[in-house]
Amino acid sequence: MLLQLRPGAPAIRAASHATRRIRAPVCAQCLRQESLDVRIRSQPRAGYHSSPARASALGAAVAVAKNVVSNAISSRTSKLNTDLMGIDPLRLVSKEMKFLTGNIRKLLGSGHPSLDRAAKYYTQAEGKHMRPLIVLLMSRATHLCPKSPETHHRAASTVQYTPIPIDTSITPLSILRDNNPSTANATSASTVSAAEADSAISSETDILPSQRRLAEITELIHTASLLHDDVIDHSVSRRGSPSANLEFGNKMAVLAGDFLLGRASVALARLRNAEVVELLATVIANLVEGEFMQLKNTAADEKRPVWSEEALGYYLNKTYLKTASLISKSCRAAALLGDANAATVEAAYGYGKNLGLAFQLVDDMLDYTRSERELGKPAGADLELGLATAPLLFAWRDRPELGELVGRKFAQEGDVQRARQIVLETEGIEQTRALAEDYAEKAIECIRDFPDSEAKDGLVEMAVTTIKRKK
Ligand code: FPP
Ligand code: MG
Repeated sequence: MLLQLRPGAPAIRAASHATRRIRAPVCAQCLRQESLDVRIRSQPRAGYHSSPARASALGAAVAVAKNVVSNAISSRTSKLNTDLMGIDPLRLVSKEMKFLTGNIRKLLGSGHPSLDRAAKYYTQAEGKHMRPLIVLLMSRATHLCPKSPETHHRAASTVQYTPIPIDTSITPLSILRDNNPSTANATSASTVSAAEADSAISSETDILPSQRRLAEITELIHTASLLHDDVIDHSVSRRGSPSANLEFGNKMAVLAGDFLLGRASVALARLRNAEVVELLATVIANLVEGEFMQLKNTAADEKRPVWSEEALGYYLNKTYLKTASLISKSCRAAALLGDANAATVEAAYGYGKNLGLAFQLVDDMLDYTRSERELGKPAGADLELGLATAPLLFAWRDRPELGELVGRKFAQEGDVQRARQIVLETEGIEQTRALAEDYAEKAIECIRDFPDSEAKDGLVEMAVTTIKRKK
């Protein structure tokens, strides 16, 4: 692990911020060997910049890093001050979003009334639908980007590429309907839904039917994970209503989540794109890996852990798997379905990865700063669940006494209140926000070379609102 002090603060950040460059431990695919810039608003510890050799090597690294960050910031700042004002990402894909919930509900039809109700339960309340929104924006934004040479090759070749309708089944319907008297209805309903959606969305749209279906699949996977998560977390509410585990019980909530994954897998198979199937299947595995990592606060899981960068690296890897994997891989899949070239596919992926990390950091910050009424779910839940998230990890660096509480997962009487109080006394929340801002800026930087378009502006705006959001 590399730990270096980056002297001085990047552009537009208050000069008092010291920045330390931390290389996260090798892990979790895309965080692999990547250096993470972590700004710490406190005095650097003695010794980090004592070596002149390190200082000069750092000088060059700092210059490059500063350049990247200030470019990202200056393009974002100028856009924010001018043409981005008033951009509403939702409006840019409103036609597609209008059909989203209806299509998802049709994908979830079951002849068993209780399963039907449990599976559709989280589609009733108005969710943020952030993931499908990003997929749709990314689909539009990458439409104008250079295409993969393979696509040109395929178009020019004698074998004509004929896209198969996404609702056409691979397996004969008689088999898909096997032993399930209700599936026939559900399958035909889903076919009708896509046909309706296709005709209702004018042909001039630059979002492909497969990309729209991908947006629905991301929401299905996300919702499945929430059904399971609420069981694991013993949740009582979600989106302002009783959570599914409370409404239907743990068993039905888990099974409903599995059902969503099953239907998502069928829809995914019908996209007939092996790389996209591979990506989204990996997301499901990543979600479970992230949730497993979250069962511990640190890799070692000691009784009295001492603060180290590894704890932060562990948390960031967990955060990538739990939150950013779905966003990054679905952005990548959107670009692939649009036959974008390799650079565009990587850019889409980088945007999603950084945005996902920023999103979860803000989520973890809001858990400390907002009330239950504002969030639509219990506030302060993370400490109650024994979780040491970014605000606490930053606070722990300055307040070593938190180690003991982390080690016993805040389980003793008064631990939660004490930990919360300590976090509020430190700059843990500000440092979490600063790190989230870094990631949001990096997300914007990733798509800098996309041709100018409203959808690109919408993606920039999504990054900005991720930081500004209050719930
Ligand atoms: C919400 O976290 C939960 C997730 C983002 C992922 C949960 C993943 C699993 C339960 C693994 C199983 C996955 C699948 C696909 C079945 P949170 O508790 O921090 O957020 P919350 O406050 O909204 O509950
Ligand atoms: Mg939860």
